[in-house]
Amino acid sequence: METGQKMQCRIKNEMQLTFDAISVNEAFARIAVAAFVTPLNPTVEEFSDIKTAVSEAVTNAIIHGYDEEFVKAEGAEGENKVYLHCMIVDDVLQVEVRDTGKGIDDIERAMEPLFTTKPELDRSGMGFAFMEAFMDDLEVQSEPGKGTIVQMKKKLGTMSWIGKEE
Ligand SMILES: Nc1ncnc2c1ncn2[C@@H]1O[C@H](COP(=O)(O)OP(=O)(O)OP(=O)(O)O)[C@@H](O)[C@H]1O
Ligand SMILES: [Mg+2]
Repeated sequence: METGQKMQCRIKNEMQLTFDAISVNEAFARIAVAAFVTPLNPTVEEFSDIKTAVSEAVTNAIIHGYDEEFVKAEGAEGENKVYLHCMIVDDVLQVEVRDTGKGIDDIERAMEPLFTTKPELDRSGMGFAFMEAFMDDLEVQSEPGKGTIVQMKKKLGTMSWIGKEE
């Protein structure tokens, strides 16, 4: 940086991942997002909140979006993907988890704590409630038969990193 030049503090970073909708990838997605936010120096609590929220959204895409009934009807076993898109703008992390699965009929109802359509799989209906509690913003868009998009935002308390190095 030349002397006298104003320091560039704006931080922007973006990444996208596409992976198969299989349960081993829940951990993969959680760790990938955690690694992506590491340069922002999140606290242990922020780290844990982000990992939980990502894990819940990705698990939902895999077990609900592409459930057995959907896979059977579509005849698309092994071809279903989850799309993860993360962006850091300054100290805010944005995460989008998208599937092209069966979609949600009634989003408001689905987001109620304890509501689940899969009690037989021991689901407790708390996934959206956790996403809401652990992130600062949660938006869900869905179309039955087309898929679901979950968008979350979290403001991180600490900033270090790129801007300061330059
Ligand atoms: N990606 C998705 N595609 C289709 N349906 C979904 C999706 N995500 C959530 N749902 C629906 O919303 C309901 C509530 O989701 P939520 O994550 O809150 O609870 P759960 O997954 O049923 O249980 P838990 O997350 O506690 O194991 C689900 O039971 C399901 O019917
Ligand atoms: Mg869930």
